[in-house]
Amino acid sequence: MIWLIGAKGMLASEINTLLTQNSIQWIGTDIEVDITDKNALEEFYEEAFQNKKCEWIINCAAYTAVDKAEDNSSMAQKLNADSLINIAELVKRVGAKLIHFSTDYVFAGNSTVPYIEADKTDPQSIYGKTKLEGELNIINNLHEHYIIRTAWLYGKAGPNFVSTMLRLMNEKDEIKVVNDQIGTPTYAVDLAKAVIKIITSDNKKYGIYHYSNEGTISWYDFACEIYKQGKELDLIKNDCRVLPCDSSQFHQKAKRPSFSLLNKEKIKQTFDLLIPDWKESLSCYLKELI
Ligand SMILES: NC(=O)c1ccc[n+]([C@@H]2O[C@H](COP(=O)([O-])OP(=O)(O)OC[C@H]3O[C@@H](n4cnc5c(N)ncnc54)[C@H](OP(=O)(O)O)[C@@H]3O)[C@@H](O)[C@H]2O)c1
Repeated sequence: MIWLIGAKGMLASEINTLLTQNSIQWIGTDIEVDITDKNALEEFYEEAFQNKKCEWIINCAAYTAVDKAEDNSSMAQKLNADSLINIAELVKRVGAKLIHFSTDYVFAGNSTVPYIEADKTDPQSIYGKTKLEGELNIINNLHEHYIIRTAWLYGKAGPNFVSTMLRLMNEKDEIKVVNDQIGTPTYAVDLAKAVIKIITSDNKKYGIYHYSNEGTISWYDFACEIYKQGKELDLIKNDCRVLPCDSSQFHQKAKRPSFSLLNKEKIKQTFDLLIPDWKESLSCYLKELI
């Protein structure tokens, strides 16, 4: 039996669909079982897992509003960092294993080669700092963990870059998108498939892993492809010019990494994973919207 925490979020919605499709039993909780409240977690566990063994806890709950975190650091700290002590201790006590998600924002974003898991962290935002502290709280309290750092996540169950672009491209004649931040998008369905692969594998190589789709692009490249495919699928009815711009033209509270590429060799080799190219995954996502 699996306990999926943050079950209504963008990534968790895809994980719960795949768990069901794979006939894997799971229970989901979201904000009603507050992960910042140790007692609430313990009480839910005692009630829900009385007669069932909890094999895995998958934690998708997080404070994900990157800019708001700059003003609301105490909430981000509680949710992204402190609550991971509660979760790790619970997982350890009940003899389960943990899958948790982190971010490319733990890095400074000034590398020239894709980040490997062991690279030096140096977060530049409150979100990145609190997510890194969450990783450390897991590592220091629980051996049986998989921490998956991902980036540029999009999926059906949440506002994301692709849904925002589709809306803006339908509303405006011209939009500007930054072309000096490089990374790779991650389709939530693909990451959810990797999660299923991990929980159905006998491999116990615990630790940190990186996951995104394949490819190297800027947000501008991503927007251009969304426009191209969105037009072909008639999801965009309007004519809109997509123009490149510099990050300095956009004021955002939290500093974004200019280089977000994650090296995925470790997860591919350990779990024998084939990761789709970002364009192919974008096409799958857009076709789901028709
Ligand atoms: N989104 C990205 O681009 C991105 C990139 C890299 C890494 N990640 C990481 O990937 C993971 C999943 O991200 P996501 O975008 O799918 O997240 P999400 O859509 O924001 O989902 C998080 C879920 O957790 C719930 N939640 C909030 N506070 C809670 C609490 N105190 N107790 C229990 N549940 C609570 C949220 O409820 P409410 O909606 O009601 O608050 C929401 O349903 C996170 O760890 C995130 O840091 C995301």
